[in-house]
Amino acid sequence: MSDYLRELFSLHGRRALVTGGSSGIGYAMAEAIGRAGAEVVLVARRREELDKAVARLRGHGVTASAISADLGERDDVRRVCESGGDIDILVNDAGNNIRKPMAELTADDYERTMAVNLTAPYLLGQHHGPKMAGRGWGRIINVGSQQSISAFGDSGVYGAAKAGLAGLTRSQAEAWSAAGVCVNTIIPGFVLTPLTEPAQAIPGRVEALAARHMAGRNGVPQDFAGAAVFLAGNACGFVTGQMLFVDGGFAVH
Ligand SMILES: NC(=O)c1ccc[n+]([C@@H]2O[C@H](COP(=O)([O-])OP(=O)(O)OC[C@H]3O[C@@H](n4cnc5c(N)ncnc54)[C@H](OP(=O)(O)O)[C@@H]3O)[C@@H](O)[C@H]2O)c1
Repeated sequence: MSDYLRELFSLHGRRALVTGGSSGIGYAMAEAIGRAGAEVVLVARRREELDKAVARLRGHGVTASAISADLGERDDVRRVCESGGDIDILVNDAGNNIRKPMAELTADDYERTMAVNLTAPYLLGQHHGPKMAGRGWGRIINVGSQQSISAFGDSGVYGAAKAGLAGLTRSQAEAWSAAGVCVNTIIPGFVLTPLTEPAQAIPGRVEALAARHMAGRNGVPQDFAGAAVFLAGNACGFVTGQMLFVDGGFAVH
């Protein structure tokens, strides 16, 4: 790599925490950030999936480790903050989507969805954001949804949480950008991952959604590698508080 590209995009010497990093979009972003030079710490619930992801990252020469935690539980979030060490790049990717018609959602569904999709990113940001600002450099990448900006397919509480996450991004950017911490939201299109398997199982749905993307296809996790490296590095130093649509043109179609 030329010195020029290294200055813009290398993540050597950085340490990243990637929630949801054992699967799908989160794993792809963790691998991209790791292969660009950062040490990577993954967070998810299932230990076996974490171990597999860590082994895969190590196969790419990435220094990687994992913390098993349920980000819907306040004590677990606290443990992730305490045991994660100093973090330069925080990726809030872990999410859950309880797909029920609005009227059937329970108070527990609401609280669980908010806890994982919005409260955990808030608490992790509250822990790491000020520390990043104190060191004069940091990046927070929140993973939103089309539902950060519009209703789509029983958006329910998930839509409210993801809209809140875009707002949280702006609040965090307002608080810490002047101290060198850039905070942005990635907005995916429809991506073929375990999370969307229920939607993928509906006959004709995958094809119909592919046609809604200007690119003519649905997303795959690898589509998020470039955006992750960009938003995690020096190149994005004047990009903050934004939503970056990695959606094949879905939102503007
Ligand atoms: N796929 C799409 O079309 C799409 C579109 C828009 C936005 N998104 C967003 O993209 C993000 C990643 O989704 P994905 O499609 O890549 O899903 P995925 O492949 O199912 O991955 C979800 C990841 O989050 C972890 N996770 C889920 N609940 C958790 C919890 N309570 N505590 C800790 N970790 C948890 C999962 O591991 P464990 O299950 O082991 O905990 C897994 O690592 C989510 O925020 C999702 O809302 C996805």
